[in-house]
Amino acid sequence: MFNVEGKIGGDSMLSPRGVEYARQLPGLIHEHLAGQHLTVWTSTMRRTIQTGQELDYPKLQWKALDELDSGVCDGMTYEEIEEKYPEDFANRDEDKFNYRYRGGESYRDVVLRLEPVIMELERQENILIIGHQAILRCIYAYFLNFKHEDLPYIQIPLHTIIQLTPRAYGCDEKRLKVDI
Ligand code: G3H
Repeated sequence: MFNVEGKIGGDSMLSPRGVEYARQLPGLIHEHLAGQHLTVWTSTMRRTIQTGQELDYPKLQWKALDELDSGVCDGMTYEEIEEKYPEDFANRDEDKFNYRYRGGESYRDVVLRLEPVIMELERQENILIIGHQAILRCIYAYFLNFKHEDLPYIQIPLHTIIQLTPRAYGCDEKRLKVDI
């Protein structure tokens, strides 16, 4: 719902499109990943938990998977942030990876807090992460070897499963998208 309203952060519920994706997700997985014993990891935020609620797999909530904390800007639109904190807005544009929101986090902070998640991911197989844009950027960048300065601009489309399979050198990637 916050995406729809152009606001960042928050702990909103899913939009009607998000609800529809959650409804179609078991079918998408059944069609393309049948026979795999998945474990579902979500954040502790309502929108990721709601997205996974139709899935009949073991589930784990990680606080470390919660969206980047935008501090005093939580719940604001980008226009509101630019108006209220013009200097911060410009600084973020200048160095998005290192910019830390007042009272919140930077992408660099998030990369650090995701370390235990990544370590566990490396040990396990067939994990389905239902995540947030900034978080998925960091995880994707780790497996695909993106540079820090490029990481905050990776496109993470909605209503899409990005399947990464580790190989000897890098990862194979497949995308499964639902048109909603
Ligand atoms: O809601 C915020 C997004 O997940 C992160 O977007 O880092 O490109 O502003 P941004």
